[in-house]
Amino acid sequence: MNLSRTSRLSTSRRTVAAVALALTGLVSATAPTASAAPAAALAAPDIPLANVKAHLTQFQSIATANGGNRAHGRPGYKASVDYVKAKLDAAGFTTSVTTFTSGGATGYNLIADWPGGDPNQILMAGAHLDSVSSGPGINDNGSGSAAVLETALAVSRAQLKPTKHLRFGWWGAEELGLVGSKAYVNSLPATERSKFSGYLNFDMIGSPNPGYFVYDDDPAIEKTFKDYYAGIGVPTEIETEGDGRSDHASFKNVGIPVGGLFTGASRTKSSAQAQKWGGTAGTAFDRCYHSSCDTTANINDTALDRNSDAIAHAVWTLGSGPVVPPGDAYENTADVAVPDNGAAVTSTVTVAGRTGNAPAALKVGVDIKHTWRGDLVVDLVAPDGTAYRLKNSSSSDSADNVIATYTVDASAEAANGAWKLRVQDIAAQDTGYVDSWKLTF
Ligand code: TRP
Ligand code: ZN
Ligand code: CA
Repeated sequence: MNLSRTSRLSTSRRTVAAVALALTGLVSATAPTASAAPAAALAAPDIPLANVKAHLTQFQSIATANGGNRAHGRPGYKASVDYVKAKLDAAGFTTSVTTFTSGGATGYNLIADWPGGDPNQILMAGAHLDSVSSGPGINDNGSGSAAVLETALAVSRAQLKPTKHLRFGWWGAEELGLVGSKAYVNSLPATERSKFSGYLNFDMIGSPNPGYFVYDDDPAIEKTFKDYYAGIGVPTEIETEGDGRSDHASFKNVGIPVGGLFTGASRTKSSAQAQKWGGTAGTAFDRCYHSSCDTTANINDTALDRNSDAIAHAVWTLGSGPVVPPGDAYENTADVAVPDNGAAVTSTVTVAGRTGNAPAALKVGVDIKHTWRGDLVVDLVAPDGTAYRLKNSSSSDSADNVIATYTVDASAEAANGAWKLRVQDIAAQDTGYVDSWKLTF
């Protein structure tokens, strides 16, 4: 309905001055900026080193109380499972302990699911929880077990709502040939395997003379870890001390994308490596590998701290999917009054987290309520100030409202930044407001 139509038709108001104002009077008032949707992924928290070390102290106590080890088929292994499971249960995880047999002894895997997320996109992180029988296995692999546990507990503390379904696993009998993780993967029907978007493995991540090694497997996972390390200015190398020597191989063998971190086992640190990472050249990354001295004294705190934070970074980043998937809309729904025959007003939409330029077919959805839309001149203004005319004024267009989707070739514009819808009413009497507008990339 257009109540003012009769009076307008009998009044000649369209002056040269008004048209001139339309072309030059681009005084703008900035409207409140709507939060662009979807929100950027939250940054991962710092994983407290003290918490990770407290788990190692418990693993050490369990070994000490059970003949000095936490090996498959020995009581120290099941006690380790019970310790980790109790922490996860108290934090709200859905846990399950599954059994398998190896060497005539019952083995156990512990699986913990964080409720929620897309059940068809599973991100899993895991570590083997067993030691060799000759020692307590604190670096191998209390370190990975404790860091994965503390990352899971951080997920609970944050009450994280990731896009993907998060699952954590602690494997038995890795030291006997990846037995537990193989049993787990074999237990999954093919349809379940296809739901895994990735498996992240952590086996020996606190070596006393550490290197910083990233598995050279799935490129997206590898990049996520490398990005973390680049961010803290620590160089990494590709892991080469035996690809396939830990539980990620069980997942990789059935086509699941894998990645992981490692600080080195019995191989010797070179002088070049000692120069970039510190530590001792000519000695092993872990002199106590598979021996009785793999105790709480056999841990480099800095390496354990960095790797724990890297695990959280990967779970947060990979669990939330791309920050801004293509096809998403950025919208401002705040109303902005358009003054009658007055200055231009703007409404801002801030685009963040995209790479490169805007599309050649950028969709601009406009919803302007107005009682005589011919009064309106509408532009899209790119972050660098370039204006793209969406609609000219027209003295003969007496219809209500501008509700339309315009397609703009915005390929010359950077995607990120503050985009504005600029609206000016260039003739007196009829008025209106910007109800909402959005950009769809
Ligand atoms: N648990 C492994 C083992 O005893 C340790 C190991 C050696 C490892 N090389 C590795 C773990 C490479 C990860 C990647 O063999
Ligand atoms: Zn190991
Ligand atoms: Ca008007």
